[in-house]
Amino acid sequence: MKPVIVVHGGAGRIFKEREEGSRAGVARAALRGYGILKQGGSALDAVEEAVRSMEDDPHFNAGCGSVLNEKGEVEMDAIIMDGKTLDSGAVSAVKCIANPIKLARLVMEKTKHMLLTDRGAHLFARAMGIPETPGEKLITERSRERWKKNLEPDSNPEEFQKDLGTVGAVAIDSEGNVACATSTGGLSNKLIGRVGDTACIGSGGYADNHSGATSTTGHGESIMKVVLARLILYHMEQGLSPEMAADTALDYMKTRVGGLGGVIVVNNSGQWAARFSTKQMSWATVKDDQLHYGIYAGERHTKSVDEALTFESEGF
Ligand code: GLY
Repeated sequence: MKPVIVVHGGAGRIFKEREEGSRAGVARAALRGYGILKQGGSALDAVEEAVRSMEDDPHFNAGCGSVLNEKGEVEMDAIIMDGKTLDSGAVSAVKCIANPIKLARLVMEKTKHMLLTDRGAHLFARAMGIPETPGEKLITERSRERWKKNLEPDSNPEEFQKDLGTVGAVAIDSEGNVACATSTGGLSNKLIGRVGDTACIGSGGYADNHSGATSTTGHGESIMKVVLARLILYHMEQGLSPEMAADTALDYMKTRVGGLGGVIVVNNSGQWAARFSTKQMSWATVKDDQLHYGIYAGERHTKSVDEALTFESEGF
């Protein structure tokens, strides 16, 4: 099987000043994940590495770029899933952790459970030797400004849904195993303890070698209502291509519950899709040593991996 990786940096509205950074961030994440796949590494390692790269990039609403809850704190959700075994691990409402996706993977591999939340997740992180990152280090000036603006009495609650920036990755490796990973700071000014789609299996992501893998982004409550990730795999099981399955599920979410979002998909033959019903979604993929990436509908840049790696060292 030829390896493939697809990543997203969130669906919604990407402000002009963030466009270049978002394009570079998704391209870099896809290249990192692909590097692992090319050396014979697993889809699980590839998606974890790609998501970790975006958690470390302040352009995205995950890890160090996370939006803030109603009290001005970071609370993050993440999930990872192995399509070979259907094992998955997730964390929700975690603070002071630089890479929630790593913690989600440890939940999958080192516990009998699938989801740890808040205090329990922190106790587990400590037991696993994951260092605490001071909350302030995960807060950007942009997140703080956004939070303050949303507290103003005349702020528009609809703004909470824009510029979402959740990150995710799906991959198939040379052995034909698929995996997905998703990580987010959630919605700006959310209630303390709000858990979104990202941590919920079947909503924020799903992976099954029998069909493929998907990672979602967008309005979490809408995604949970239609269990978007599993719905896409269901459509693929009925014979639809990744693109048709993604569009059918996104249309359903829009017409049934008025929700917008985006998805990345790979099927077990290595066909992929990056589709969204929002104005924008940053995405990138690498297949056959070719990197493709874009933000707007219809936008697609292509570079060879060698050329792209040169760009990367120059900062894109
Ligand atoms: N899809 C991210 C969230 O709503 O939390």
